Amino acid sequence: MPLNRPSTFPLPSAMPNAWCSIVLISLTIVYQLDVLVHAQNQGLYDPIFTRQDVDIDWYKLNASETITWTSCGSEQKCARVFLPLDYSRESVSPKATIALRMQPASSNVTYKGIVLYNPGGPGISGTMLVANIGPIIANLVGHGYDIVGFDVRGAGATLPLAQCFETEPQMQTFTQWTPILLNISDTSIPYSNAQQDVVAELCRRKLGGDGREDVHGTVEEWGGGRYMDTASVATDMLRINELLGQDKLNYLGISYGTVLGQYFAAMYPDKVGLFVMDAVCDAEYDSWYSVLSDTESAIDRLYSYCHQAGPHECPLYESDASRIKARVWSIMDSNTPLAGPFAAQGPAVITKALLQQQLITAASTPITGWPQLADILTAVERNNQSALASSNIIAASVPLCNSTNEPVPWFRENSAEQAIRCLDYPIPDVSATFNAYLSDLLEVSPIAAPVWAQRHLQCMKWPFQAKNRFTGPFTGNTSSPILLLSNILDPQCPLAQARRVHERLPGSRLLVQNATGHVATLTPSACTFAAVQAYFADGTLPAADVLCQPDVLPFIGAAGSP
Ligand SMILES: *[C@@H]1O[C@H](CO)[C@@H](O)[C@H](O)[C@H]1NC(C)=O
Ligand SMILES: *[C@@H]1O[C@H](CO)[C@@H](O)[C@H](O)[C@H]1NC(C)=O
Ligand SMILES: *[C@@H]1O[C@H](CO)[C@@H](O)[C@H](O)[C@H]1NC(C)=O
Ligand SMILES: *[C@@H]1O[C@H](CO)[C@@H](O)[C@H](O)[C@H]1NC(C)=O
Ligand SMILES: *[C@@H]1O[C@H](CO)[C@@H](O)[C@H](O)[C@H]1NC(C)=O
Ligand SMILES: *[C@@H]1O[C@H](CO)[C@@H](O)[C@H](O)[C@H]1NC(C)=O
Ligand SMILES: *[C@@H]1O[C@H](CO)[C@@H](O)[C@H](O)[C@H]1NC(C)=O
Repeated sequence: MPLNRPSTFPLPSAMPNAWCSIVLISLTIVYQLDVLVHAQNQGLYDPIFTRQDVDIDWYKLNASETITWTSCGSEQKCARVFLPLDYSRESVSPKATIALRMQPASSNVTYKGIVLYNPGGPGISGTMLVANIGPIIANLVGHGYDIVGFDVRGAGATLPLAQCFETEPQMQTFTQWTPILLNISDTSIPYSNAQQDVVAELCRRKLGGDGREDVHGTVEEWGGGRYMDTASVATDMLRINELLGQDKLNYLGISYGTVLGQYFAAMYPDKVGLFVMDAVCDAEYDSWYSVLSDTESAIDRLYSYCHQAGPHECPLYESDASRIKARVWSIMDSNTPLAGPFAAQGPAVITKALLQQQLITAASTPITGWPQLADILTAVERNNQSALASSNIIAASVPLCNSTNEPVPWFRENSAEQAIRCLDYPIPDVSATFNAYLSDLLEVSPIAAPVWAQRHLQCMKWPFQAKNRFTGPFTGNTSSPILLLSNILDPQCPLAQARRVHERLPGSRLLVQNATGHVATLTPSACTFAAVQAYFADGTLPAADVLCQPDVLPFIGAAGSP
């Protein structure tokens, strides 16, 4: 979710960890292309966001002005490339160092070129996702392509990195105490204000630079954080594609990756090749409200699925969907806070705020997330500690940290998501308007509003601006037609936004999938899968008004079965 741009792609609700427990307070989503190729789901969060064993020491990999691939992993290739930090003063600018990881095309099929891949966030590591699910992405786009994931400025193995805290545990412990749900009637807003002031000052010191831009200055002196905006990343994509010997850019962007795609299409329309954008959020910032327009309906859909599935499938089953909803709210209101001393991720207090967030996550990835959450809610309702101990979605526990387990820098949690969002969409720091904003947003989505409001507050406090921000218009006559994908109910990037983007991009095609959740290709659908494959095969667009049906429904299983 991002941001509004919320498109923030989700972070997993629980990240298995080799280091510290990850405390994820943002809306989290998980990109599970897996479900496209495996039938139903079995804890598919894990393979996607696991911080794998380090098969490459990124900081020892030589960077150069060209792209020189080195083997990493069993079949993949890695590289680091220098690009200008400041595209407006290229000749004297210090260099950003962009990390790339490739899932190479198979040798058994005709080579078709390169597809750049961005998994959203903003700031989810493209190199990590290619490491974890490269072959799965290849199944979707076709084995004739080299698939190249990269880390955007601020994130992963790219430098500069949006690292404002000294260590990951320090950041986690600090953000741990965030009142996740801002409430106008309590003290959470003043507290949150002060807390964001702390983050802002830490980030200003680390990323803000000295304001001079000296000719021989370093990235730190120029202020690496001022160049993490999406327009700079769009130009990085242009340059990477050129260095890889390509003319047009082929691209697969998910969630915030669709915002990046819109920047690219607007800035370099004649360089657009095959472009698929899935879970489309509108890059043209108009308001912070419309992004949540379908969130409540998507959550209500969860209750219908539970009811339709029946009591054997859904532990929260009641005689109609509205009673299921009432039961869920009764659990959240009456059975929390609940002590979870032996919760799977460590000692935890299970709060209403936590469950409310899990509800948003469940609506984003309902096939896997909703059954898991239903189990948690049932466990909370009955104070069933053994069930809590075996569930991995309660990520509210205190970080388990020790001085020897700090992750390598490219796997550390950092402030990239906030930095990118706030550089692209700066918000004046006018506290007087904040309460009004929150009240209005509460009308749109009482469940998601407090989380989004927190993001709004973060950007009110963000301490510096992008040097080279692009503000639109987000339109352009692209050199080839773009394929947009959207679920009919997406709680983070609603269909209405996809339609707006579709209208602004001449020649584009919008494929709608009759499913709930964030990211169409997370839901198994032979229809959607075939459309994406045909497009990447030879540019074939699906019919103009096609509505793809999902093959699997949450709790219910195979669509069409009783
Ligand atoms: C990396 O660059 C350094 C300095 O140019 C050179 O000594 C070293 O051999 C290079 N390493 C590799 C793996 O190419
Ligand atoms: C080509 O190889 C890939 C694995 O690299 C495999 O998944 C695919 O099925 C193969 N395709 C054909 C046509 O043999
Ligand atoms: C805010 O707090 C009031 C008073 O504690 C409570 O009645 C209300 O439900 C809370 N609102 C939200 C959105 O949590
Ligand atoms: C508690 O949860 C466990 C594991 O999910 C389950 O086997 C058990 O039946 C539950 N106990 C109660 C009282 O619901
Ligand atoms: C600290 O982390 C290291 C490395 O992960 C681990 O081997 C060690 O057991 C940990 N110590 C404690 C007290 O958890
Ligand atoms: C696209 O092309 C049409 C027809 O040539 C033109 O009217 C329109 O202004 C162009 N749009 C953009 C954004 O360049
Ligand atoms: C969309 O899917 C729902 C079930 O999830 C079904 O009831 C409805 O008829 C479908 N709509 C269309 C237009 O196919």
